[in-house]
Parts: sequence; C-alpha cells; structure tokens
Amino acid sequence: MQATTTASAIDIVAWFVYLLAAVMFVMGLHYMNSPKTARKGNFISAAGMVIAVVMAFVKLFVQHDLIHSWVAIGLLVAGIAVGAVAGVWSAKKVKMTDMPQLVSVFNTVGGGAAALVALNDILAAEGTPALVVLITAGLGVMIGSVTFTGSLIAAGKLQGIGWVKKLSLPGKSVWNVLFALLTVASLVMLCVMPGQRLLWSVLTTVFALCYGLVFVIPIGGADMPVVISILNACTGTAVAMSGLAIDNVALIVAGALVGSAGVTLSVLMSKAMNRPLLSVLAGGFGGSDGAAGSADGPEGTMKETSADDLAVQLVYADKVIFVPGFGLAQAQAQRELADLGELLKEHGVEVEYAIHPVAGRMPGHMNVLLAEANVPYEELVDLDDINPQFPSANVSLVVGANDVTNPAARKPGTPVSGMPILDVDKSQNVVVMKRGRGKGYAGIENELYFEPNTQMLFGDAKAGLQAVIAAVKELLA
Ligand code: TAP
Repeated sequence: MQATTTASAIDIVAWFVYLLAAVMFVMGLHYMNSPKTARKGNFISAAGMVIAVVMAFVKLFVQHDLIHSWVAIGLLVAGIAVGAVAGVWSAKKVKMTDMPQLVSVFNTVGGGAAALVALNDILAAEGTPALVVLITAGLGVMIGSVTFTGSLIAAGKLQGIGWVKKLSLPGKSVWNVLFALLTVASLVMLCVMPGQRLLWSVLTTVFALCYGLVFVIPIGGADMPVVISILNACTGTAVAMSGLAIDNVALIVAGALVGSAGVTLSVLMSKAMNRPLLSVLAGGFGGSDGAAGSADGPEGTMKETSADDLAVQLVYADKVIFVPGFGLAQAQAQRELADLGELLKEHGVEVEYAIHPVAGRMPGHMNVLLAEANVPYEELVDLDDINPQFPSANVSLVVGANDVTNPAARKPGTPVSGMPILDVDKSQNVVVMKRGRGKGYAGIENELYFEPNTQMLFGDAKAGLQAVIAAVKELLA
C-alpha cells in the first residue's frame, strides 16, 4: 500500500516536472528566434533538459526501489557522466564549420536511443502490449533506426571521410523501395502478430537500419543540408513516438518540437535549393556521381588582382556588395569583413551583405557569423532582395563563397542545377577571395571565375582582408 501511494505520488510529481521541462523547451525555442536572445534560449532549454533527466533518475530509483542496487546506481551514474562529459567536450571543441557533423552525430545518438527505448517497451512488456503501444513503439523503432544509420553516413560524408564519401549504390531506387517495403511490412506484422513480437521487432529494426544506409549513401554534392534536416526531423519524431509509448510528456513535447522544427527547416531549405522534398525522401536526387562534377570545365582563364588594386576599386565605388560563404567561416574572417565594411561606409560607400540561404554549412550560418562581428542585421540582405541589386553594384566582393554564386546552376545537368544562386556575375566588377583553384562543396568548377568582369585575389580570407584594410586605410589617409 505504502509503495503504491509513493509510486502514484512520484508519478504526479514527475508529470508536473516534465511539463515544466516541456514549457522550458518551448520558451528556449522562442528565444532562439533572434541571435540576440539565442544564448538565453539555449540556456533555458538546457536547464529544462537537466530537470527532466534528474526527474527520470529519481523516478527510476523510487519506482524500482534501486537504492540498494549498486549495479543499477553505478550504471545510471556512469551513463550520465559519460553523456555529460562527451556533450560538453564535443560542444566546446567543435569548430563552427564542423557543427553540421556534430548535429548529425547527435541525431545518430538521439535516433538510436529512441529506437532502444521503444524496443525495450515492446519486448519488456508483461503480456501482449496494446495495439496503440505496438504502433507508437514500432514507429519509434523504425524511425529511430533509419535515423541512426542515415545520420552516421551523413556525418561521415560531411566530415569528408574518404571511404564514406566514395560509397556508391548502383540501382539506388530499387534498394530504397525494397527496404522501405520490408520495413513497413515487418512493422505491420508486429502489430498483427504481437505474439511473435521478438521476431518482427528485430526484423523491423534490421530493415530500418538498412533503409537508413540506402537512403543516405546515394546522396551527395550540395544536397546534404536538406538530408541532415530531414534526419533531424526523424530524430524528433522517433523521440516523440518513444515518449508516447512510455507515456513521458517531456519526451513527447521535446520530440514534437524537434520533429516539427526539422520538417519546417527541410521544407524551407528544399525551397531555397529548389529541390522537391518528396524526391529526397525517395532518395531520388543528388548523387555521389554528381559530387564529382562534370568533365567539361568552363572556358577561359582566371585573372588575378592584388589587395592594392582591390582597395582602389572599393574606395572609388558608390555601391559594394559583400558575398560571404563557407570560406569566410573557415578563415574566421568575419570581423575583418565587418571592419572593411565600416571603413567603406565611413567613406560614403553603400555596403550590403548578400546572404544565400545555404551559404556555409548550416542554416543561418552567415547570419550568425556576421552577427558575431556586430554587422547590423539590416545590412544582411536575402537572396530575393539582393539579386535585383547586383547590376547596380560597382564591385561585388565574394569572400570564400563558391557554389552559391555558380552560374552553372542556371543550366541543366550539373550537381547545382536548379539551385537559386546569387547573381554576382551581373555586377559591374567582381573580385573573388579564395585560397586557390579548389572547387566548392558540390565539387564543380565555378563559371563565375572565368567571366571577363571577374578577378581573383588568391590567399586566406583573413590575411587577404587584413591586407585590403591596410591598403584602404593608406588610400584614405
Ligand atoms: P563552398 O561552395 O563550400 O565554397 C567555399 C569556398 O571557400 C571554397 O571554394 C574554398 O576555396 C574557399 N575557402 C575555404 N577556406 C578558405 C579560406 N581560409 N580563405 C579563403 N577561402 C577559403 O561554400 P558556399 O558558396 O558557402 O556554398 C555552400 C555549399 O555548402 C553549398 O553547396 C551548400 O549546398 C552546401 N551546404 C550548405 C549547408 C547549409 S544549410 N548552409 C549545409 C551543408 C552543405 P579554396 O579551397 O580555393 O580556398
């Protein structure tokens, strides 16, 4: 009697604590709307997660009377310690440019954990689980397993691990359809024949793990961001399904938030890249062959310029558009670019920053980077608004941006075909700062570099911008 009362009391307390954690997740997400309040939002969400984890810990102890089980205590404490140390260490150590890989690794862990929780719920149930539990937990197993292997491959590709990047899958559509059908059929059988739930849940897991592999292996080139975002949505959905299966409100809300945010982001990104979302889900676009690029490079030669020449062009311009890309983040040259912008503005030059939605390696990468360098938000102009302005720009200065400026996107048959680009080539003069003749993320040559109005300033973006700033200061002295 005493134990039952304690158990129901702890259930009520846990319900309220999980609800509080869920409210903190929503508040945190709201504060992440703006870079100014994003840190606060992150802190509130993290605090919500700590509260939820501590509550789960206490609930386990009380309900299962674990206080005397040193093995259980040891395992729980070790799990929390390993997770906390790995989380803090990776978050502190990761470079901003490697963040997508980290997100992908977190998706792997999240998807795998959700699948295990759901699998346990199916297999450890006393008697035959109810149909609703089989459906929700089965979906958790299925989506979590797809996310586990899919995110692992995506992280390897983004990290540039040689053998992962080289993986290819001849007849990709056949494998995709085959494993999708096998996974769904096993899930249906699990619900129809709960008596054999060990067999069907293991088959659902294995087929879903295989589907994750065949879904992501064929995708390459510039299309990976949409895939990461879809996998993120899958992690959230798997977590929400596991939450439903084990009746945990914090998991349901956190999973639903991540799932819906991931879907919204996937839709926005596929729009930004002009890729149909449904064909991503069918594994039918992108392609490892595409990452290699086309054999016919653009005709013509690249013309080089110097920091002094560029300084003259900038100082005598009425209007300058900066076009930042992944290379700016790689060089950590955002402050130098902002300083150059300030110098030119003080001299009466109109300066704007052209922001492509997938410039860099993650959504909003350029906005966050430039906000960090205190560039006023109103100077960051989106693709649709900046494109009509390029013809009136005396100079467009491209700093470490490649694919998002490639006019090849306007033609069919290249890995970036159909992707909206910044119309930099329509500017009166273009100067591109990059280290050498290396290709962009999609692995193809940029036709912009061979245009008659384009000049190249080779070198690291940070050192290059410092040299340009010094030359501008000298001219204005
Ligand atoms: P990229 O096409 O990756 O080009 C970056 C350029 O920066 C490279 O050509 C590189 O040339 C140059 N660079 C690298 N380090 C540099 C340094 N220290 N100093 C100067 N230049 C440097 O970048 P992008 O134009 O921003 O396009 C983004 C690409 O990433 C798209 O294909 C997009 O689909 C993909 N992607 C985007 C996301 C999101 S959501 N934003 C996520 C994943 C992938 P050098 O080697 O010659 O220096």
